[in-house]
Amino acid sequence: MHCVSSTVHVPDVGAVPRHIAIIMDGNGRWATQRKLPRMAGHTKGVDAVRTTVESYSNSGIGYLTLFASSSENWRRRRAEVSFLMRLFASVLIRETARLDDYGIRLRIVGDLSMFGAGLRALIQRAEAKTAHNSHMTLTIAANSGGRGDILRAIRRLLEQTAADERSALIDDASFAQHLALAYAPEPDLFIRTGRERRISNFLLWQLAYTELYFTDTFWPDFDDATLEAALASYRTRERRFGRANA
Ligand code: IPE
Ligand code: IPE
Ligand code: MG
Repeated sequence: MHCVSSTVHVPDVGAVPRHIAIIMDGNGRWATQRKLPRMAGHTKGVDAVRTTVESYSNSGIGYLTLFASSSENWRRRRAEVSFLMRLFASVLIRETARLDDYGIRLRIVGDLSMFGAGLRALIQRAEAKTAHNSHMTLTIAANSGGRGDILRAIRRLLEQTAADERSALIDDASFAQHLALAYAPEPDLFIRTGRERRISNFLLWQLAYTELYFTDTFWPDFDDATLEAALASYRTRERRFGRANA
């Protein structure tokens, strides 16, 4: 399956989103509020990922995309960056079998060239082990950024398209095929936890007509009730995609 562009065709939408994309923010502040080191917030955040993935896998939502680290998070202190990478590796080791039991296909997107060979091998193994699953696709965006994704897609298109064919062949669909999330429909619902009201270079192309939901809850406190509040808000939205409502 590949993206059907919401700016070319009005997508079929229902009361339940097909794809939810979440910026899991607020781990550091969750910990600081409790006088704990920021790392404790990241560790606790993994529990919220586990419960969220399990709830989603029962809800009929086909695609869940979680923003785990951005291409700008390298600006943090080295100790935090390396802690996050070790945490990612340990989660892959501990949780892949469980994802497989739930019928979840795992995909990791982002610029993985900055990761060590060990972590890249774990990613490859986890993706291969779950590749046959079709119940739900869980995408973890790691060292990921919307602008970088768009630029990579442009480079690939230019490589693959002869100069005299470019203006005819480059369109929404051919472009989106080269984005990291080409296999998923555009998100219906975007959730950002942790109080900030911004996109922070997440899926810039795909969020064109996504419904946005912001909650003050810090990510480690995200639970079924917070998710249900987001879904309830989504059900009240009238998605017009540029059309008049009459
Ligand atoms: C989100 O929590 C997790 C990552 C970006 C890795 P933060 O670490 O950004 O937490 P705050 O925003 O500082 O509270
Ligand atoms: C966005 O959160 C990235 C993730 C949650 C992975 P940040 O905490 O990095 O975003 P800013 O810096 O507050 O915009
Ligand atoms: Mg943050």
